[in-house]
Amino acid sequence: MGKGIIIDDNHNRRKMLALNFELYLDVKLESMTNSDSAIEYLKAHDDIQLIVCKNNVGDESTILKTFYYVKSNNLEFPILCLGSCTKLSGEENVKVVEDLGTDLKPIISWMAKKLAVTAEMMAWKDTEEYYPISIRNFSLLAEAPCDIFSLIDQKYEVLIKKGAPISKDTVNQWIFDKKKELFVKSLDRLKFVNNLTLNASKILNAKTTQRGERINATQTVFEESRNVLTKIGLNEKSIKLADSAINSMITIAKGTNELAELLALLESSGSSYLYKHSVLSATLGHHCVSSLPWGSSAQKEAICFVAFFHDIVLTQDAQAKINSNRALKESSLSDGDKKIVETHAFKASQLIQDYPAVPFGTPEIILQHHGMANGIGFSPELNSRITPLAAVFQVVEYFVDLIIATPADAKFDFEANISLLHSKYNKGHYQEAASAIESLQNTLKFRK
Ligand SMILES: [Fe+2]
Ligand SMILES: [Fe+2]
Repeated sequence: MGKGIIIDDNHNRRKMLALNFELYLDVKLESMTNSDSAIEYLKAHDDIQLIVCKNNVGDESTILKTFYYVKSNNLEFPILCLGSCTKLSGEENVKVVEDLGTDLKPIISWMAKKLAVTAEMMAWKDTEEYYPISIRNFSLLAEAPCDIFSLIDQKYEVLIKKGAPISKDTVNQWIFDKKKELFVKSLDRLKFVNNLTLNASKILNAKTTQRGERINATQTVFEESRNVLTKIGLNEKSIKLADSAINSMITIAKGTNELAELLALLESSGSSYLYKHSVLSATLGHHCVSSLPWGSSAQKEAICFVAFFHDIVLTQDAQAKINSNRALKESSLSDGDKKIVETHAFKASQLIQDYPAVPFGTPEIILQHHGMANGIGFSPELNSRITPLAAVFQVVEYFVDLIIATPADAKFDFEANISLLHSKYNKGHYQEAASAIESLQNTLKFRK
């Protein structure tokens, strides 16, 4: 969680802003009531990311004193000024809000944009000298775009020199040897990832691409688009990457008539849970909507869009596996990570607000994909007030988890799992989705 300072003598406003900054920006605000204590605090802490400050507290020109301190010390963080201040109205890093009102959206999104830039800079600063790259990515490269290192006895040693060829056999051997990752120098990371995503995008766009190749290349684009989207936000690059991942997920969904085969391909390319459950949810969701009496082709594509975006702000498999308030409470995640899980549906729906050509109704489905109308937490019971496709998506995800949870060498007991689904989802649109999945038993081969 990030840190900021709020300087304001109005207790209620301080509390309201602190709550919103924590929830929407993941920033904890430290409360101060005058500029002197804020300056002392800034001198003692070098991890402050933003300041919220009232224009005048009593006779003191609080904002100007604080601003001049920040400026003269080259601290380049954003400042939100509460109340008018003509002297600062042209400053790039200052937003003057004359009347705060009740709609905090404009200030939250201004701050989010400012913080995204800072976060990007921090990310580069914080990176260690070597950056890990998952082995499965190397099958997308014909040659090394930079030196590639292996970690041997705590030491990084060059394994492949820049420009040297990387053969499929070599990569297969690494996979066979259960090698998990190799490394590139942090300074080469961007070059490496750009090269990788360029190759992966070519594979996604080629007409001759085999399913196995597509599934692997889609994961690369899926991961990099999530990375750019969550670190930097919506920009030309992240939108292009996300579009190509979503379109490829639609291609995978449409081309699947055996879920068992799709799962096997995902397993063999060493997919993460986050990717696996998104692709499987897109595919089962697509087929489930086809079997709904009211399902339309626009909804089939919408559910693939949702499958890509619904957990976009989660970065670890352990976070994405949580699907109840109880599991969240009992998990061993840090408090910060728990907060991310609790608010992930809300944050994902916010993230796509400015996404171009969002399929109809998807922000709402993403917001409500754990049954809560406001996107915070998990609904303990079936909620009849959420949008129908949000209920359908919940049922689909639950069944996908049952499929993934079955060990590879065990038989998937369709009858037992479908009755579990019916007993859990026994009302309204939930029940319709469970019946639609049941109707796919003979057309969509689920497991061996
Ligand atoms: Fe999910
Ligand atoms: Fe989720």
